[in-house]
Parts: sequence; C-alpha cells; structure tokens
Amino acid sequence: MGRMLIQSGIDFNIPFAVLDPDAHAPCSTLTEFSQGKLTDYDTVLKFGSSCDIITIEIESVNTEALKELVRQGKKVYPQPEIIELIQDKRTQKMFYQEHHIPTAEFLLVEGASDVKSKESFLPAVNKLGREGYDGRGVQIIQTPADLHKAFDAPGLLEKLIPFEKEIAVIVARNEQGEVKSFPAVEMVFHPVQNLVEYLFAPTELSLKILKEADAVAKNIIQKLNMIGLLAVEMFVTKAGEILVNEIAPRPHNSGHQTIEANVTSQYEQHLRAILDLPLGDTSLTTPSAMVNLLGEPAFEGLAKYQGMEEILKLSGVHIHLYGKRFTKPFRKMGHVTIVDSDVKSLKKKANFVKQTLKVIA
Ligand SMILES: Nc1ncnc2c1ncn2[C@@H]1O[C@H](COP(=O)(O)OP(=O)(O)O)[C@@H](O)[C@H]1O
Ligand SMILES: [Mg+2]
Repeated sequence: MGRMLIQSGIDFNIPFAVLDPDAHAPCSTLTEFSQGKLTDYDTVLKFGSSCDIITIEIESVNTEALKELVRQGKKVYPQPEIIELIQDKRTQKMFYQEHHIPTAEFLLVEGASDVKSKESFLPAVNKLGREGYDGRGVQIIQTPADLHKAFDAPGLLEKLIPFEKEIAVIVARNEQGEVKSFPAVEMVFHPVQNLVEYLFAPTELSLKILKEADAVAKNIIQKLNMIGLLAVEMFVTKAGEILVNEIAPRPHNSGHQTIEANVTSQYEQHLRAILDLPLGDTSLTTPSAMVNLLGEPAFEGLAKYQGMEEILKLSGVHIHLYGKRFTKPFRKMGHVTIVDSDVKSLKKKANFVKQTLKVIA
C-alpha cells in the first residue's frame, strides 16, 4: 500500500519518509526510510516530528504518539481517535450500533469460555477484537462441535450471515468536508483462507442496492468526521439488505484496480483528501478484475514468479509486485489487475491469471 501511495505521490512531487519495522520493507529503497516499531510511542513520535502530514497504511500504530503529534501541530490523517476506534472490531461494532448503521447482530465476548457459553447464538463468527487481518482473526462456529475453535481473547461473536455477495465501497473526505465515493466492487473469497481471491467491478447489483451501499459508506465517513480514505466492507443478503462488515481507514485491497480502471486511483484520492485538494473523479473507465497474488501453500523462501511471460502476453493485464523478498504460504506478494471492455473475456483472463501466475520459492 505504501509503495503504491508513493508511486502516486511522485506525480504530486511530494517528498515521503517511511517508518516500517522491516529493514527490507517494500518502501525501504524508494524514499527516506526509518526502521522502527509502529507500536512504540517514542519511535512514532520521533519519526512524526520530522513530517508535516502523517498518514498510515496499517491500523496497528501507536495512537498515543499520533495524538501527541496532533498536539504539536502536525496533521495526522486519518485522525488518531478514528484509528483507535477501528483498531478494535469491538469498538467498530459498537460505533455502528450507536449510529444505527446496519450490521450483523453481535455479542461482545471476553474469551473462549465466554464463547462456549453462547451456544444459543450459533451459527456465528468469532472474531478477535484486535490484530486480526486477512482472515486470521476470524473463526466460523457453525455448531457446538466447532466451539473448540473459539479464540481465547477479547472479541466478538457475530451472527453468521449467509450473504449473497460481499462488496466494498471506498469513500474519501477532505478537510473541507467534500465527500466522494468509488463505485462498489465485488469480492470473491477463497473458501478456506477467508482471503479475497478476485475482485470485480462493476458489480452486478441493482441500482437500488448500490445507492444504499453508497449512502451507508458516506454516512460512516461523515459520522466519523474522518479525513482521508475509508474502505467499507459490506455484505449484501439474499433479501437485498446491506450489512456493514468492517471498515479500514486507508487505501485498501479492494481498491487496487482503481489504478487502471478509474479516472482517479484510491491512492491519489487518499493524497488529495489528506492534502485538502479537490477530490478526483472516481468513475470507472473500464470493467476490471483484480487477482491477489498469494504465496503458494507449499513454498517458503526467496520469492520466484512463475508464469509471468504467459500472462503478460494478454492485453489489459497489469502486474504489481510488492517487492517482498520472501514468500510464505498465502502471503500477499502482489496483485494483477485485468481490464477488458468485455466482461466475459475479462473473467476468462482473470481465471487464466489466477491459474498461471504462481509465487514459489
Ligand atoms: N458475520 C459474518 N457472517 C459470514 N461471514 C463473515 C462474517 N464476518 C466475516 N465473514 C467472512 O470472513 C471474512 C473476513 O472477516 P473480516 O471481519 O472482514 O476480517 P479481516 O479483518 O480478516 O478481513 C469476511 O470477508 C467474510 O467473508
Ligand atoms: Mg475484512
């Protein structure tokens, strides 16, 4: 994410500095770079003191340090209080409840024994409050026989939603309060890993549902008073109801294809929002698909890419490698965006890319 944000920032002639715990982080060779823990108060404070505007591409950051930077007159977008609220899925859900934002029914749970006492709430999804990502903090508990899978940490128990589709709407807001959203995209998930496999835009949903999803996303960013980019993940039920799953206050996996398929990319939009520039036109210029490039399950080590030449022979195939040296099973190593005015041919190409391009070691 940081890399693609920087890529977009070059056109605005914005000098960047990056803080990341990994000495070989994908951004480390692109800009002024500091290695350090994002969760450490002193590290974040010291790093931020040398910046004018501070932003994030991961929520797991020391927000006390960010608040101190705001007190020192720095601009921190998204605002630290919002990052804090989003860091915990429990406070996220309570926020939706408080503001009457449609979301799956839930209970707060303190640990495994607490989950086990909620048998009557099944089928459900147990989620870690903090630190879960890419499906790693999510456990489906269909029946009492699955209760041993419960997390032994504070989290949520949510009603299992037999959704029809999963979509995301990315919305941006600048300092002046201008709000603009991107057309919804549809996610298709890996059945085991709970990780996005494909992403398609435009969705095949009715105008009525799309309008509602758009209104929900705009309502959330306004209620939060947030400045920056907010990705809103939603379920669409069989009855056509929209339920908010979770939100992320930053460029998002579901917005990758905006680089090639929208007038303004999510990365440029995020920069426009935090720099208080007019927000860009978000219209689609073409149908698109996005395939996450994940480390193959059986490989761990120095990353090698197989099948690149075959996929690059197709028109409309755009590759994005993140520059991560080492691959691990299911690690996000890059993505491929495919654009094609013909939706059938687009889906065919996306499947071909998915089957052909592999990250091995
Ligand atoms: N209440 C639910 N009902 C059905 N499926 C769910 C529910 N919550 C999450 N999921 C599935 O699990 C995936 C990951 O959950 P999510 O809360 O988005 O976690 P992560 O932070 O890992 O993205 C979702 O995209 C969805 O496919
Ligand atoms: Mg998610």
